Amino acid sequence: MWKKIDSSEKKVMLVAIVLSALHLGLIAYAAFQLGIKVPFCDPDVKPFTQGKLIKHADKQFEVQIVASMWKFEPAVIKIPTGSTLQMYLSSVDVNHGLHVNQTNINMMAVPGAVNAATHTFSKPGRYHIICHEYCGVGHQNMAGWIEVGDEFTGETEGLNPSGLAEGDSSETPNMPQSLGAQLYASKACQGCHGADLGGIPGAGPKLRGLFGRMETEVGGAQVEVTEAYLKESITDPKKFVVQGFSPIMPMMPLTDEELQSLVDFIKAAK
Ligand code: CUA
Repeated sequence: MWKKIDSSEKKVMLVAIVLSALHLGLIAYAAFQLGIKVPFCDPDVKPFTQGKLIKHADKQFEVQIVASMWKFEPAVIKIPTGSTLQMYLSSVDVNHGLHVNQTNINMMAVPGAVNAATHTFSKPGRYHIICHEYCGVGHQNMAGWIEVGDEFTGETEGLNPSGLAEGDSSETPNMPQSLGAQLYASKACQGCHGADLGGIPGAGPKLRGLFGRMETEVGGAQVEVTEAYLKESITDPKKFVVQGFSPIMPMMPLTDEELQSLVDFIKAAK
């Protein structure tokens, strides 16, 4: 068999075998000799919908990061120098990416799944987090920071108040407290309708001053924004698509109370 193979083909096969062996050897060297842990998908962790930083011990932190259009929660993580950070990542809408500059942390954020990576930050500094998976019109703004320094004890920024873990020292951010405002934040409405309620061009119409306004449908029809219109648009977003936008808003399962509180929140946005 071997004798029947042309000698130039044999050379190519030998080179391929040597390169493959070298490749596998380097992976084993990185894993066992350098201790580099490859990010992995953890099927035992239930997907979470709220960001959290948990301190397990001195310089031992766990962070649960939620990716959504177009932010990470928490957006800023501050830990002391030398901390080991176990990172868990999930998404509440579409696929996102997470890369931490100057490290080899590189993960996908997949709805319904949790990916994990661990890294020890032995050098102080500011490490930029970026989303490296195209996820819509606001993709380029999706970023965060890991700040490492002896002055930090495990703080975060950009968390919903309800996302604070018990016993951790996260700051309470200055967020509106009504149920409607909480839903607006937790259901990722601001991904498309945000930018301080002025909306995002091409993604979602502005909510500021929406109540009572006349809206024009894709087909040209006009309708006045009433409570009934707001309820219909939240529960059945594809029924009336505003001119200049695409029917991309997902269906939102809400209780009657939640729906009413969201409508009140939008009515109050003047
Ligand atoms: Cu998220 Cu790009």
